Amino acid sequence: SHPSGVYNGEEFVFEESSWSFINRPKKLWHYGLNPLRMSMWVEDILDKFMRIYRFQMHDYAFSSNERLLHALGGDDFTRLLNQTIDEAMQKAGFSQKFINQVVCPAMRVNYGQGVTIPGGFLAGAVSLAGVQSGLWSVKGGNKLVCSGLIYSAKAEVIPGTVVITELFSTGDPVKLYEVTYNTSSGLTGDTYDIVVIAAPLGRKMANITFRNFDPPIPEFLNPYNQTITTLVHGRLNTSFFGYRDPQAFHLGAIFTTDSPKLFINSLNLEPPVGDTGTGGKLPLPSAVWKVFSNEELTKEQLNLLFSSYDSVKVKPWLAYPQYSAPEKFPPIVLHEQLYYLNGLERAASAMEMSAIAARNAALLAFHRWHGHSARVDQEDLHEKLKTEL
Ligand SMILES: *[C@@H]1O[C@H](CO)[C@@H](O)[C@H](O)[C@H]1NC(C)=O
Ligand SMILES: *[C@@H]1O[C@H](CO)[C@@H](O)[C@H](O)[C@H]1NC(C)=O
Ligand SMILES: *[C@@H]1O[C@H](CO)[C@@H](O)[C@H](O)[C@H]1NC(C)=O
Ligand SMILES: *[C@@H]1O[C@H](CO)[C@@H](O)[C@H](O)[C@H]1NC(C)=O
Ligand SMILES: *[C@@H]1O[C@H](CO)[C@@H](O)[C@H](O)[C@H]1NC(C)=O
Repeated sequence: SHPSGVYNGEEFVFEESSWSFINRPKKLWHYGLNPLRMSMWVEDILDKFMRIYRFQMHDYAFSSNERLLHALGGDDFTRLLNQTIDEAMQKAGFSQKFINQVVCPAMRVNYGQGVTIPGGFLAGAVSLAGVQSGLWSVKGGNKLVCSGLIYSAKAEVIPGTVVITELFSTGDPVKLYEVTYNTSSGLTGDTYDIVVIAAPLGRKMANITFRNFDPPIPEFLNPYNQTITTLVHGRLNTSFFGYRDPQAFHLGAIFTTDSPKLFINSLNLEPPVGDTGTGGKLPLPSAVWKVFSNEELTKEQLNLLFSSYDSVKVKPWLAYPQYSAPEKFPPIVLHEQLYYLNGLERAASAMEMSAIAARNAALLAFHRWHGHSARVDQEDLHEKLKTEL
């Protein structure tokens, strides 16, 4: 991959060299043992988090996201939910310089938010894991994961606006839900014993209407933060980043610190789709750059960032939760047999989190339906499963 640099609005506070063997001593010089300690800190958090796979393999489920996290990491985990990543890492002994120049830029590129936002420590750990290890992407676009999953689940997809109505049947304790879809070809729907909502609820997100529920299903207000992705085919204006001579500029990724002067969160060379074998080469004079920002870039801003460009694609999206303290999760059980997956995104937002939440909801629905309370909300599972071996 291309060398990266961390820009603070005035200068690069850290730049990788094109000579990769220099980067390790360079980091040691700049940040001491912080990077190594970060690996261990992140690994410790992720090790605990990965206990979920074992719990789920043994069919254990949790009825709330708080209980799930507590079962994984105990009070340490739930305490961290009330702290900013900045606080949590300071307490763990990391230097402020390291937090500002390494951790914050990682959060800004992955979550569009800095380190002073509370909660989201797991999100922090996940984004820092991304800093360290080789992430991969799917040839043809990561969106193929979604269509592939829908295909292999043999799911029927009905695009439309959704109304879920609670149906009361007199004399029968079993509750039923009516799900109505308003599609382009008219109304359709059915009744169900169990309904799982696997889309972020909110007026601007999955705008599902709940009818007849008593008490009503709570509204989840604007829980997501907007990020703007701008893809630009053009030449970077290297003098904007302090390089008078474009030839001297060798960076393929620019991360940023939390600075009011900056109107971008990150900027990086988009690798060409497919394997062209150019990995490691210097940036082409004209290439596709991906810019993340919180606001749409103005023409003036684009003209600052690029000395010339011929094509711009802008994609705004509500990509990840707006983290806030104290981190309180939306419920998993919205109603007797009505389940909601996306609350777990408030701990960290990634495809993997959705898969974990989905498996938990499936197990939970099954156990609640059959009255298997021994498999729900068990504490000390880690210890229990150890002695079971
Ligand atoms: C987090 O803060 C909330 C509100 O201040 C408090 O009720 C809760 O007990 C705190 N949680 C932990 C684990 O400290
Ligand atoms: C999204 O996060 C950014 C950075 O923390 C913040 O400035 C902005 O106000 C947030 N937007 C919303 C809609 O919460
Ligand atoms: C279905 O959607 C159409 C178009 O948005 C709207 O005009 C119509 O009133 C909707 N029908 C119901 C029953 O909500
Ligand atoms: C969400 O749905 C409600 C009820 O159908 C409707 O009144 C509202 O305009 C919708 N909001 C958005 C942002 O689409
Ligand atoms: C490039 O950046 C410099 C420094 O910010 C700025 O003065 C100039 O207008 C920008 N645009 C071009 C095309 O050089």
